[in-house]
Amino acid sequence: MRKKIVAGNWKMNKTFEQGLNLVDEIIQSSAIHQTPEVLKIIIPPFIHLHSVSEKTKHINDIEIGAQNCNNNEAGAFTGEISAAMIASCGAKYVLVGHSERRQYYNETEAILTQKVNHAISKDITPIFCVGENLTERNNNTHLETVKQQLKETVFNLSVTDFSKLIIAYEPVWAIGTGVTATSHQAQGMHNYIRSEINKKFGKETSESISILYGGSCNPENAKELFACIDVDGGLIGGASLKANDFVAIANSF
Ligand code: 13P
Repeated sequence: MRKKIVAGNWKMNKTFEQGLNLVDEIIQSSAIHQTPEVLKIIIPPFIHLHSVSEKTKHINDIEIGAQNCNNNEAGAFTGEISAAMIASCGAKYVLVGHSERRQYYNETEAILTQKVNHAISKDITPIFCVGENLTERNNNTHLETVKQQLKETVFNLSVTDFSKLIIAYEPVWAIGTGVTATSHQAQGMHNYIRSEINKKFGKETSESISILYGGSCNPENAKELFACIDVDGGLIGGASLKANDFVAIANSF
């Protein structure tokens, strides 16, 4: 059975105090505890990691992730945060390859591969994001785009390391736009990703990897998306900033 996962990427939102209030609201909600089989991953900014991790460490189905880590081990990289540092603050997961990082911070496939390797070496699970932009979707080259994104990065891992990943499909045109992929579009891409994993790493690996959908996912559309056979949950941006919405999405399987 693949793990069902709902992860909340807060992006650059919430001051320290606001962030702690949001976590308190999530963990105090009785509804969040109705679905112990669903793993909830809270992915706040770096400054919240340690405190959020302290608040949630006794809750089995809530884990903490970071939004980024540097591609180097340590050293003179002013302003950067390493995989070892996020691990020491309680992060078990890290986003790698988010389209905002690719687009605004020019993260190349080579850098992303280094990040994945560093994270794995520190026992952190990368949530590796892929997704096409609107032009690629309209040109019907979206499958090829996503295949390339996988081929140039995580498809170079050993099968053992690849099996540790979570994949997130986030079509760029759906992120923060209010335009969600239809369940048909999401299922089509998730099934394609799984079939490419099957070709590269075999059936056992492809059947065990969780593939999350991200892009304007909300309490209204989550049920239909999560009902798709190859959609194992969601990577949630805007809706994860409201405790009630995040909890409702986590309860949408
Ligand atoms: P939205 O849910 O705000 O569209 O963001 C999705 C996302 O980028 C999560 O990583």
